[in-house]
Amino acid sequence: MRLPTTGPTATPLARLTTLGVGGSADVVAPSTLSDLTELLARLWREGRAWRALGRGSNVIVADEGVPETVVHTRLLRDLRFEAGGGVVVGAGVATSLLLSETRQRGLGGLECLVGYPATIGGAARMNAGGKWGTISSRVRCVRIVSTDGTVRELSAAECAFGYRSSVLGAGVVAEVVLDLPEVDAAEYREAVDAIYREKAATQPLAERSAGCIFKNPDGESAGRLVDRSDMKGVAIGGAAVSAIHGNFIVNRGGASASDVLRLIDHVRESVTREQGVDLELEVEVWKAGRVPAGV
Ligand code: FAD
Ligand code: EPU
Repeated sequence: MRLPTTGPTATPLARLTTLGVGGSADVVAPSTLSDLTELLARLWREGRAWRALGRGSNVIVADEGVPETVVHTRLLRDLRFEAGGGVVVGAGVATSLLLSETRQRGLGGLECLVGYPATIGGAARMNAGGKWGTISSRVRCVRIVSTDGTVRELSAAECAFGYRSSVLGAGVVAEVVLDLPEVDAAEYREAVDAIYREKAATQPLAERSAGCIFKNPDGESAGRLVDRSDMKGVAIGGAAVSAIHGNFIVNRGGASASDVLRLIDHVRESVTREQGVDLELEVEVWKAGRVPAGV
């Protein structure tokens, strides 16, 4: 597989992320597990750092882009069904596709993935979900490629899933094996539709965003704190705090990463000053100098 050169061949990451801001990087998209292992082994030998990218729905890329090679998982799209509810899912499979394919086979248990764009690799890495559960409860094991190119299988316990966290950022997730229950198709469809309706009414799903910017502090909603500080609708350049949900920043068109990052600082400082709560980022900011995986 060809490794790209740096410089003019770099790909604008704004196109590969849901928020749609930020500069460029060298992007490689392996299409098989052996391509992926070969790529990481080669980067390791050459002492080059990398970052993994799925749907780009939880990252904010700085305007300067990043110097590391970006390993894009979009071509890792295997989807295999085993007898008894086991499903082997390539890291780059979109969670929306996974939801529809599993539902067609009478399998459920993925309510936690409804209503947002993601790949299963990114969802596992982030232990994505919310009040309808998290993906960790459906994970049997994860096949991950380590920085030196070796493949390891981690059980769900070894993934050390927590609130929007896991150990999976230490490598590139290649495949996630899920155990899904058989469900009543009509009941499941109704539940999924109801979750979608609730999300669409309370979150800016039709706008460009990176989901919730901050983690919820213990027992509190970051969105409610931002709301109480009267920050909804506050804007810097093309970036604005959503009028619908205080924990979302939306790109109103033409936002730069700098607009978004300055707005995040402004919101955070206001909440700390007025309510004494220090909000922690949930989104990952990609900029040069922040230590990525692969080093
Ligand atoms: P990316 O954004 O591409 O990456 C996220 C992180 O995972 C990065 O650190 C990246 O390096 C790493 N990563 C990605 N792929 C891999 C891989 N194969 N191996 C190792 N590391 C990898 N999240 C929720 O949890 N609950 C919600 O309800 C929710 N709602 C959202 C609503 C909207 C409108 C949007 C835009 C986002 C929302 N999110 C939500 C955030 C986001 O969708 C999730 O965090 C999602 O799991 C990220 O998946 P991704 O494929 O886009 O990952
Ligand atoms: N609220 C406000 N004002 C706001 C936003 C929320 O008052 O601007 C109130 C709501 O009315 C509700 C409470 O805060 O009483 C909680 O709100 P919501 O149900 O929207 O949940 P959340 O805690 O804000 C979390 C996750 C979301 C996930 C939802 C639903 C985090 C940081 N956020 O949001 O995940 O979709 O629950 O399960 O954990 C994400 O991680 O990117 C994300 C969107």
